[in-house]
Amino acid sequence: VPGFVDAHVHFPQTRILGSASGPLLPWLERSVFPEEARFAEARYAAAVAWEFCEQLVRHGTTCAAIYSSSHPIAAELLFAELERRGLRGTVGLTLMDRGAPPGLLLAAEPALAACEALVERWHGRDDGRLRFCVTPRFALSCTPALLRGAGALAERHALPVQTHLAENHDEISATARAFPGTADYLEVYEAHGLCGPRSLFAHCIHLSEGAWDRVAGHGAAVAHCPDSNFFLGSGCMPLCAPTSRGVRVGLGTDVG
Ligand code: GUN
Ligand code: ZN
Repeated sequence: VPGFVDAHVHFPQTRILGSASGPLLPWLERSVFPEEARFAEARYAAAVAWEFCEQLVRHGTTCAAIYSSSHPIAAELLFAELERRGLRGTVGLTLMDRGAPPGLLLAAEPALAACEALVERWHGRDDGRLRFCVTPRFALSCTPALLRGAGALAERHALPVQTHLAENHDEISATARAFPGTADYLEVYEAHGLCGPRSLFAHCIHLSEGAWDRVAGHGAAVAHCPDSNFFLGSGCMPLCAPTSRGVRVGLGTDVG
């Protein structure tokens, strides 16, 4: 059989697998952010990169769209481990310059410079098996300047883009407060050049019919994460909304 494709997975959540109990935002603060902060240390990141790739292989997953942490060294070590094993990976440095503990934040300028270096070194490497993916964690963790820079980076190098979209009601309300003047969550990404045929949006549980039309119009794809949605109590993604519009849907584990 062909290998499985995981359309949405967080490498730094390998060791908190099964910790998910919702709702989303308190779980991020309580369980996810403290664990992801550990990836500042290269030895920790290298050990988990090995474990993560080992688990991919054990489960028959040969290709994945992966969020690293916000630390460039962790993304570098993950790319190296994927290459060593011949796995196919689309990997992003998770961009966060607000809304998280200081150890996880990286300001727009150094973050975008680190992305450029990772693109240079890894994008297209190993016969195209490895790709760099522009990865703003979600609108709430990024300032408008960082989102704008991320959109420009994706455009400059024709890179794939991945982020979270409309996963949870509290997240959606907080996004509306953080980006006043935008009509809905998707418009935040549209306004910063992050929507197009190379965009992959995770979850997409609570989108209006009009927003689904726009997702389809952009030619964007969806990473559907049913296990995650169940454990975090985020809701049910209406699968017929994308499929009836010809929007590509992949399955993601989301891991944590
Ligand atoms: N939204 C922003 N970050 C995350 C994450 O790590 N997991 C999930 N499920 N949703 C998110
Ligand atoms: Zn996720």
